[in-house]
Amino acid sequence: MKFVTKSLIAGFVLTAGVAFASEATEPTVKARQDLMDTIAMNTKVLGEMAGGKTAYDAAAATAAKDALVAASAEIGAKFEPQATDPKTKAKAEIWTNWDDFLKKATALNAAATALDASSAETIGAGMGAVGGACKDCHSTYQM
Ligand code: HEC
Repeated sequence: MKFVTKSLIAGFVLTAGVAFASEATEPTVKARQDLMDTIAMNTKVLGEMAGGKTAYDAAAATAAKDALVAASAEIGAKFEPQATDPKTKAKAEIWTNWDDFLKKATALNAAATALDASSAETIGAGMGAVGGACKDCHSTYQM
């Protein structure tokens, strides 16, 4: 069961990696995509340690957790201006359901804050909630 969870995390992290670099040029859209890339990068660091793909490193794990907490706290500010770009994948529903979008951003921040970075096992235990928060928002608000 534990192993299945780890495989799912690894698969999720891979998918997130493929989605990198949509490269919008409109500055507001680019800034929110860059924020998402920062979120994805740090999630990947944690996911790879949890899955045993990289060795557990306490300093790197703590730095990735802290970066994820900080970046997820910025989602609201970066997405609030309704800018667009031919390369955006943000659905217009974000701004018509703004409170729900914010709730999903807060859920990621809470999952990242609750994540215990003190071992690969504890990271693994917290990654389901983190990955679930990404998926919950993307499935509703990402094209
Ligand atoms: C509250 C909603 C929300 C949450 C939570 C969220 N995302 Fe996103 N994400 C989006 C939206 C919306 C876009 C599309 C942005 C755009 O293209 O303008 C996006 C885009 C992305 C992109 C593509 C960035 C690019 O360069 O185009 C990646 C990668 C990504 N998210 C990863 C993640 C990961 C990993 C998590 C969880 C750890 C996560 N996201 C959590 C809403 C969210």
